[in-house]
Amino acid sequence: MRLKAEDIDKLVSAHQPGCSMAQPFYVDPLIFELDMKYIFMSQWLFVGHISQITHPGDYFTFAAGEESIIIVRGEDGSIHGHFNVCRHRGSQICLESSGHVQTLVCPYHQWVYHLDGRLKTARLFDNNFDKSRFGLHRVHVRVLKGLIFICMADTPPPFEQIQSDLGPRLQQQGLEAAKTACSEHYTINANWKLFTENFLECYHCLAGHSEYSHIMNTPHEQETAEGEMQANRIRDTCMNRWRQIGLECSHISCADDPVHDSSRIVLNKGFVSQSPDGQPVAPLMGKFSERDLGALALMIRPNFWFEAPGDYAWGIWMMPSTPTTTQVHAFWWVHPDAVEGVDYELQRLTAFWKVTMQQDIALCENNQAGVNSSRYQPGPHGPTETAIDWFTEWYLDKLRLG
Ligand code: FES
Ligand SMILES: [Fe+2]
Repeated sequence: MRLKAEDIDKLVSAHQPGCSMAQPFYVDPLIFELDMKYIFMSQWLFVGHISQITHPGDYFTFAAGEESIIIVRGEDGSIHGHFNVCRHRGSQICLESSGHVQTLVCPYHQWVYHLDGRLKTARLFDNNFDKSRFGLHRVHVRVLKGLIFICMADTPPPFEQIQSDLGPRLQQQGLEAAKTACSEHYTINANWKLFTENFLECYHCLAGHSEYSHIMNTPHEQETAEGEMQANRIRDTCMNRWRQIGLECSHISCADDPVHDSSRIVLNKGFVSQSPDGQPVAPLMGKFSERDLGALALMIRPNFWFEAPGDYAWGIWMMPSTPTTTQVHAFWWVHPDAVEGVDYELQRLTAFWKVTMQQDIALCENNQAGVNSSRYQPGPHGPTETAIDWFTEWYLDKLRLG
């Protein structure tokens, strides 16, 4: 049975803290509408990297529910975001997912816009027509060390804390100058919150990700007290050494700020990259001069995840497209001078995250299939799933306040 607006408050209040959410949160069309409105239309969203639009006139489009957004490099080099909606009678303007243009020309009646969104010409309209009133509607844009974020709200939430917390880490990684080596798109048959929850715990890692568990120091610590002590010892040793070489590695927890978090992940002894054998796959990024750096992990809710060993960076954006379908786009970034086939092999560079993503997709889709059942009911989170509780609280608050 579909929810009605008056059911929402009751459903939100009925949530049992420490448990997964009730079925409608993962399947219902009205909840999906609210999610789009109060989460994805209101928060900062990661959409891509500046290396996708290096020259004035380079653009790409980003789909968010009913919205299409044009991200374009302007004449002066700055990056603009526009709703892809002509101010004449509303046609979409950019119909390709990416390209290069001198100006933005509507394909319907050929109104022409400057790259910064101002209306340049309107065919057959006379000189009395006030073009200044018909510029493209803008979205807010922030560029964080090469990563492009947009916000579609009239008044966006603050970005300063994210910038000051995460900027120095991305700077050390050399992300601003990085080049995109590869990207890949996935359509996942699962609600975006199941995908989010999956990425907020590593309870599933030991059984679900043999490759990830093989090189990461973390999954084992969950299993035994002795393993946990050993993992903590290794972590303390690594953190001390990294601090000495000036690496930003303090833990920013989503318990402190529900929107972003970061940590430096410790790899198992002898492993220096997130690759199938833990060995290097590309030249070091940024100004790094040694390989044993673990991996930088970042998250900015609702749609950005990032992990980077010393030699490459991997990041994704995620967007819900229906109540039970989520679009995910993954990027692999490398040092700008790294040459494919010479300095790195694409297959080796991408193998670790390709296999890990395929495993996560299968886990999320199985999760959705079970949640769809008449017998699904919220189940308890374990001791290593507390980040899901923080996320759930943040999420339900958005619906409550909305
Ligand atoms: S709808 Fe764009 S020019 Fe007419
Ligand atoms: Fe996973």
